[in-house]
Amino acid sequence: MAEPFDDAEIDAIRSVTPGCRDELIHLNHAGSSLPPQAVLDAQIAHLHREATIGGYEAAMEAADRDEAVYDSIATMLGAGRRDIARFEHATAAWNAAFWSLPFRRGQRIITHDHDYGANAVAYLHAAALHDLTIERLPNDPSGAVDVEALAERLGEPDEVAVVSLAWIPTNGGLINPAAAVGAVTRAAGVPFLLDGCQAVGQLAIDVDEIACDFLSGTGRKYLRGPRGTGLLYVRPSILDRIVPAQPDHHGADWTTLDTYEFAPGATRFEHWEYSHANWLGLGAAVDEALRLGLDRIQATVTRRGDDLRARLVDLGMTVHDEGRATCGIVTASHPFVDATSLSEQLRARGINTSVTHIGSSRFDVERRGLPPMLRLSVHCTTTTDELDRTVATLADLTH
Ligand SMILES: Cc1ncc(COP(=O)(O)O)c(C=O)c1O
Repeated sequence: MAEPFDDAEIDAIRSVTPGCRDELIHLNHAGSSLPPQAVLDAQIAHLHREATIGGYEAAMEAADRDEAVYDSIATMLGAGRRDIARFEHATAAWNAAFWSLPFRRGQRIITHDHDYGANAVAYLHAAALHDLTIERLPNDPSGAVDVEALAERLGEPDEVAVVSLAWIPTNGGLINPAAAVGAVTRAAGVPFLLDGCQAVGQLAIDVDEIACDFLSGTGRKYLRGPRGTGLLYVRPSILDRIVPAQPDHHGADWTTLDTYEFAPGATRFEHWEYSHANWLGLGAAVDEALRLGLDRIQATVTRRGDDLRARLVDLGMTVHDEGRATCGIVTASHPFVDATSLSEQLRARGINTSVTHIGSSRFDVERRGLPPMLRLSVHCTTTTDELDRTVATLADLTH
């Protein structure tokens, strides 16, 4: 494990992040993080060029920088440039991957209770359209996905349309063992779709180590990029097994009146129009994460998350996070004060948190009988002083 950032390094990161101010404690990085100044600068500079010389002309001027964003993302994921597609958010990226799968009547979708609400709705919809069944894998004793149970369920690989998991759930601190899952799906030859929405920017990622066929991510959360940005990694070897569901004349070349050809690599999933300013902002966010080092970001976030969990338990709150490997998302409830009221009162005191919502994680909420939980998500910009002040405020609100 890499070294967490020391106080001086954290101060330096905070000093170039305009939202890091004494009067605000932002513990909602799993919702939307605080972007570094470089992200804002990249967006605003491009918006300014669009307004002064024209949107298409500004795009031509920025073409090299625009292209370099793919290289940065590819570097961050250990992927090739052509394996990356740009999206407006993680769900759009995930849906593009999911709906490209060739579902056959009677096939199974294998998932896990930590999956995200939007993905679950897509399973239900696909099951209704294609007569599929949805299987939820059991947990190992730590609460993470049981990889041995998965291996047992892949005996007839042709019966399985996809293994689809959230790496880090939206409502808790566990990190699912993605690489162990990937080893099993690769051996069986079953497509593996990994929702990396909460992982990208928080974990050091190597898609070859994980052996996933798709990895979806968003810009605004742990990457500290702009809202309205997302990305999809697509493994080249899956391309001849899938068909994009909604190609346009950028994702495919209109070759004759009656024919079209898909663009090479992951580009076939993209549409032509997008916010160039946001994409350039995302590139700046990825470059900043690469400069800091994802392994050091992960080490810092893990330490802060574990520190916060211990403090909340000391306060008499119940921490609901599962898993052997933990991350920066911390969920807790209090026996007498409900999470919504806590979150509102914290916000009134300059502390941003969020509250988990059943529609985002119904599998998990129903299985564990979870109450609405206060979600406090830390990042590498979170200081111990901020945790002290947050816990003191919570003590005040719950005594
Ligand atoms: C695990 C997980 N997957 C997917 C999403 C959806 O991301 P987006 O809102 O960027 O589409 C979220 C958002 O909170 C999430 O936590």
